[in-house]
Amino acid sequence: MANDSARISPTAHYTGEVWCRHQLSPAAFGTRFGGALFVATAPLVGALARVTGGLTLERMLLERHLLLDDLLATAIEQDGVTQVIELAAGMSGRALRMLKRFGDRGLSYIETDLPGMVARKRRAIATLDRPMPPGHRICTLDVFAHDTPDSFESVVAAYLNTNEPTAIVSEGLVNYFPTAAVEALWQRVAGVLARFGSGHYLSDLHLRDETQAYWPTKVAQRVIEVVARGKVHLHFQDHRDASQALLRAGFSDSMLYRPQEHLERLGLDTRRGPGLVRIVHARVGASSQP
Ligand SMILES: C[S@@+](CC[C@H](N)C(=O)[O-])C[C@H]1O[C@@H](n2cnc3c(N)ncnc32)[C@H](O)[C@@H]1O
Repeated sequence: MANDSARISPTAHYTGEVWCRHQLSPAAFGTRFGGALFVATAPLVGALARVTGGLTLERMLLERHLLLDDLLATAIEQDGVTQVIELAAGMSGRALRMLKRFGDRGLSYIETDLPGMVARKRRAIATLDRPMPPGHRICTLDVFAHDTPDSFESVVAAYLNTNEPTAIVSEGLVNYFPTAAVEALWQRVAGVLARFGSGHYLSDLHLRDETQAYWPTKVAQRVIEVVARGKVHLHFQDHRDASQALLRAGFSDSMLYRPQEHLERLGLDTRRGPGLVRIVHARVGASSQP
């Protein structure tokens, strides 16, 4: 599983390109491959946009990225989160943005990914005009590893303080893996947060009902499967199914937000396309709905 999972890394180049194009990452986090992939897929993405009334993969990614940012910022501002660990961070600029914004609160942000991606990100960071803000760490973490220095639990033990409010983020990861693997990962995330007493988990998730109701998204799914050289998994039929799985994994509550209901707040134009992605906000030790 761990070796096979590196196959999805090309998708991080594509998303990295999108973040750069929207000034959400410094240009140094873009890659030549990501730029080429974006240009090569543009005609197909454009054709799908024409039949979907403007919905593009780029737009869906932007909605997901910005809503994850927004929920994380709220957890930092309102729930006092001081440490974040991001799984499969790829070439995302979120750590940099959050540290610029909340560094004065002593935020600590640990970005993680597989070794090749971490090496690439380190090289990109080394070319930035300014060093990453204090509080930034980057290390390898394989979400499927157990009992190794790069396992989730080892990285948590090495970098996180069990007394500090914590958030764990994953973006663009879970839908590449089968249900059993995702449920096992969620159990580990909830288990770690339970040891901390409480905490937040944020992730994107595509649901079967919403994704398969619409034929152009099936085409988009196939394109992503070609780039990622493997299946895109739609684990749960609907939000109820997904919420139950999160509860079974050990979270005390969860919300599955629809980005299109928050477009104004995210600074996006309010044209609405079909809702293709949900943002999961699950908590451990929470006394009320997030
Ligand atoms: C679609 S990209 C998302 C990257 C980033 N989160 C974003 O949204 O731009 C998927 C990422 O998952 C990483 N990945 C794949 N398998 C992994 C694993 N077993 N453990 C940790 N990260 C993994 C890839 O290296 C890649 O960076």
